Amino acid sequence: MRLDKLLSNMGYGSRKEVRQIMKKGMIRVNGEAVKDPAQHVDPEKDAVSLLGEEVIYKKHIYLMMHKPPGVLSATEDHRDRTVVDLLGNDERHFEPFPVGRLDKDTEGLLLLTNDGQLAHSLLSPKKGVPKTYFAKIDGRVTDEDTEAFLQGVTLDDGYETKPGILKIIHSDEFSEIELTITEGKFHQVKRMFEAVGKTVVYLKRLTMGPLELDENLKLGEFRELTEEELQQLMKLDSSKQKG
Ligand code: URA
Repeated sequence: MRLDKLLSNMGYGSRKEVRQIMKKGMIRVNGEAVKDPAQHVDPEKDAVSLLGEEVIYKKHIYLMMHKPPGVLSATEDHRDRTVVDLLGNDERHFEPFPVGRLDKDTEGLLLLTNDGQLAHSLLSPKKGVPKTYFAKIDGRVTDEDTEAFLQGVTLDDGYETKPGILKIIHSDEFSEIELTITEGKFHQVKRMFEAVGKTVVYLKRLTMGPLELDENLKLGEFRELTEEELQQLMKLDSSKQKG
């Protein structure tokens, strides 16, 4: 890879800015000052440094976000703010995208990455990655609903859902529940409750596969996945090597 591209990809500025830094002899490759922006480097083998600080090369970024309501799970939109708008330049230059969608009014765990292969694995119906949601329901949620979800319910378009595990936390005129499903149909949780005659009034995703929402993240905040979280995710795709 060209040296100016590597530095620019790692957030050290535009290609033009990077070339200016290089002209000043501030970049070294394996200890030698390099001024030629076209010089090829192997990010796996060559040691690149800026004013003595090692430049760590990484291809992929993996972010956990606590998605706030009112923001779209998309990379761009001409009207609404998107989850990518909430990131800083340091993250945005990796061009991450949300893995799956949460509705505009849904909160909670959202993974953003530029690792297409991992995203594909997480979303693949074949993998059936479980996702747990917390919801507040307008209506009394009953053991019959738990049983119905376990059998699978029929959505408004005739689709039969796979079994969902419903845990009733509190059942009253308004109820609180946790629901674990292994699919990701459009508005699935809301439509599953509609199928049993109830309305979701608040929805928050708590988990996705091995990832659990970090409760230290306030609405709209994000952080990189820890090494352990990343290892857990990579297990979903055994052919996947961390890049
Ligand atoms: N199910 C829904 O209805 N909405 C979401 O955002 C996620 C799952």
